[in-house]
Amino acid sequence: MTSPPRPPAGPNATSRRVTVLDLAAARSEARPISMVTAYDWPTGRLADAAGVDCVLVGDSVAMVIAGRSSTIPATLEQMIYHGEIVSRAVSRAMVVVDLPFPFQHLGVRTAVESCARILKETGCQAVKLEGTAGQADVIAGIVAAGIPVMGHVGLRPQAVHQLGGYRLQRDQDRLLADARAAADSGAFAVVLECIPRSVAAAITAALAVPTIGIGAGPDCDGQVLVMHDLVGLSPDRVPRFVRAYADTKQTIGDAIARWRADVERRDFPGPGETLG
Ligand code: KIV
Repeated sequence: MTSPPRPPAGPNATSRRVTVLDLAAARSEARPISMVTAYDWPTGRLADAAGVDCVLVGDSVAMVIAGRSSTIPATLEQMIYHGEIVSRAVSRAMVVVDLPFPFQHLGVRTAVESCARILKETGCQAVKLEGTAGQADVIAGIVAAGIPVMGHVGLRPQAVHQLGGYRLQRDQDRLLADARAAADSGAFAVVLECIPRSVAAAITAALAVPTIGIGAGPDCDGQVLVMHDLVGLSPDRVPRFVRAYADTKQTIGDAIARWRADVERRDFPGPGETLG
């Protein structure tokens, strides 16, 4: 089977590593930024070859890969394990690794130590952390250590129990204050998750750094999706803001079922697949 032609790398494509300066330039030149999650070597390679600007090793690994019901169980060791694999797989996109719960809430020193471990032990280029205006000093401390930080406001999955579920966040004043605090503390970009389009547009207009939306409408400077949602590999119902570009779940399930049937009728392995 031949693969369909791959679209050329995006308008932000460079032959070298994407940096925070490229993302700032993309925003000022109104070139949309693309970011997708990856948790392993093959999908990291595929995302990089597809020309995305950033590959996010999200703490969604706990749900997507480990089948947990939230991102809260993700550990620092797990983020470092997956971050190191993806960082080796990706040579051009910026690799961003999530700081897992609760390290941004344990004071500046612990947060800097945790982010430094992520940067040193994975080889990634940036960390992402969920937070409100209450984490401004932590972001400032990490940035002061020379570690690029991507903020994450709106629906903060690590706070799902406090927020009463995975629901739209509507409080414009609070969301704007949270996003401003991240940007003013030195974050080079801010993820806006699950907020109304008008609020995302207002935040995007107010900030001097790129916003990257997920469930935040088309007016953000960029978009991020979970890889398994994008390729149709997520086993459960996906949020309404997802667009699936493939039905990989069906493709993989069919392939395994066809192989099983071939094994049962002794059609596999055939002469060409038999050694000696
Ligand atoms: O963990 C993750 O995958 C994320 C994205 C959904 C933004 O934070």
